[in-house]
Amino acid sequence: MKTLSAKFAFSSGKLSQIPRDGLREFAFIGRSNVGKSSLINMLTCQKGLAKVSGTPGKTRLINHFLVEGTPGWYLVDLPGYGYARASKTVRAGFDRLITDYVTKADKLWFLFVLVDARHAPQKIDIDFMTMLGEKGVPFGVVFTKADKLGTNALAASIANYKQSLLNQWEELPAIFVTSSERKTGGEDILGFIEKHLDTEE
Ligand code: GTP
Ligand code: MG
Repeated sequence: MKTLSAKFAFSSGKLSQIPRDGLREFAFIGRSNVGKSSLINMLTCQKGLAKVSGTPGKTRLINHFLVEGTPGWYLVDLPGYGYARASKTVRAGFDRLITDYVTKADKLWFLFVLVDARHAPQKIDIDFMTMLGEKGVPFGVVFTKADKLGTNALAASIANYKQSLLNQWEELPAIFVTSSERKTGGEDILGFIEKHLDTEE
């Protein structure tokens, strides 16, 4: 896999703290524990760049990682939504931060919504995608933890998910299948980002 040269740039607890330097942002969102931070580490081939944890709710701020290039761009690690064990107030704070970011960040170029490849479509993810559709935020779906299923079960789970997306949308969003454990699926995401970096404002 092509290696990205990336380094931690900054953490923000509010939208207003994100520096406006004009660089494009590609962000990763999804339920707590779905594998957002692990995926960023896989894409950058740096094990400890984004903090990974078996305990949901690890990432509590918006973390920007600068990818070198001309121009450079950012990989953005977001806190997970729907963290059941957080208090209502903490959860509402995260949810506000996430919604603010995805709907108002000027340079958010594309949002990857991560879902666990093992699960049937969950209401919280579908509702989130509906909100993205309504707000006109460009997004794709990334199936994570593909290593946890055998080939046939994986294909069936993804086919089922696609079918349920087609019940709501006329067209499928971009779809990616990944395993950070086995380091698979990263090239497709990087190739997709590269293409998007070539698009005009
Ligand atoms: P929060 O920051 O808490 O929202 O979680 P996150 O979405 O960033 O998830 P994180 O990357 O921290 O991973 C959560 C757990 O899932 C960790 O124990 C990871 O090792 C595990 N995990 C992540 N990706 C994979 C994968 O592709 N395969 C397997 N088997 N486990 C994974
Ligand atoms: Mg995380």
